[in-house]
Amino acid sequence: MRLSRPEQFAESVRVQKSAWGQDVSSTIPAHLLIAAQHHGGLVLGAYDGRRMVGVLFGITALDNGRQYHYSHITGVARSHQSKGVGFRLKLAQRELIIKRRQSLVKWTYDPLQAGNAYFNIRKLGATCNTYHRDLYGPLDDSLNRGRLTDRFEAEWHVNSKRVRERIRGSEPTSLAELFAEGVEPVNRTKNTSYGQRLPVSARLRLKGPRLLVEIPRNITRVRDVSLSAANSWTLHARRIFENYFDRGFSVTDVIVDNDEDRIFYLLNRSTIRESAEFSGKVESSHQHLPGIVKTDQPTLTVTQRD
Ligand SMILES: CC(C)(COP(=O)(O)OP(=O)(O)OC[C@H]1O[C@@H](n2cnc3c(N)ncnc32)[C@H](O)[C@@H]1OP(=O)(O)O)[C@@H](O)C(=O)NCCC(=O)NCCS
Repeated sequence: MRLSRPEQFAESVRVQKSAWGQDVSSTIPAHLLIAAQHHGGLVLGAYDGRRMVGVLFGITALDNGRQYHYSHITGVARSHQSKGVGFRLKLAQRELIIKRRQSLVKWTYDPLQAGNAYFNIRKLGATCNTYHRDLYGPLDDSLNRGRLTDRFEAEWHVNSKRVRERIRGSEPTSLAELFAEGVEPVNRTKNTSYGQRLPVSARLRLKGPRLLVEIPRNITRVRDVSLSAANSWTLHARRIFENYFDRGFSVTDVIVDNDEDRIFYLLNRSTIRESAEFSGKVESSHQHLPGIVKTDQPTLTVTQRD
């Protein structure tokens, strides 16, 4: 639900601390969240009973005069992660953004956080072709401490066919199928004694229309064992993604291989024309989902593009 009372905004700071690790200096203070809520931003909370367990905060942004929504944080309390809370928060955000007649939501995330990659690209249907080097400089929370803060800039075209299919839960293609179709892996990796893979080499001149890029299953575990290994992963990924984004590729999917315990981004060279896929019909993604996020506008009707 949209937060309105001062104590709700204060509670959302506690949720941020739980999501990113205690003693974090980079939490967004309640007063800024309140200001945003009153002036074109959006602050949502997810509740388990009376307890807030998730928070989402974004602002209205401009690109060459065209409005979009910039979603700065989505955080779920540790105790409630991987239970669908983040997904329901994003669905609530989507409905409210559509109601505002906006069609694009952007946010940044660490491309090497496997959980975020799966959540943003596979489950929500965001895409990416923009890479930021060390965007925030050093951050002190438990996920980022010591690491380079390279980020993907994800684009979520909220009414595109892709997004509508993904949020309904479309089946991913398996790694075996992709290999059978001739999709090539860009990077080679090797296993370590502590069960995490490290990069070995990358091919930067591949010509196929679709490519796979492996990322670590758990970059925080890599960082905890070896900070330099974690930062080598970032530099390796930076070379690959900057190179292929420059060559017209976009990240369009994430493939998890549970048998081998490995995870890959799928890159696609065909042009993505998400905004052209606007159907004119807006479906309420909430009505089929039992949820703990309550929005103030569960059913929407929008008949024209912004
Ligand atoms: C990212 C975050 C907001 C997602 O919220 P959430 O409530 O955990 O997300 P959901 O449960 O709706 O969906 C997560 C999905 O990722 C999957 N997942 C979790 N960890 C994973 C991993 N390491 N690899 C692959 N998939 C993973 C879950 O199984 C789930 O998918 P499923 O429903 O198909 O099984 C939350 O985990 C979080 O707060 N993380 C810490 C803060 C952060 O990094 N925020 C994002 C940057 S702004």
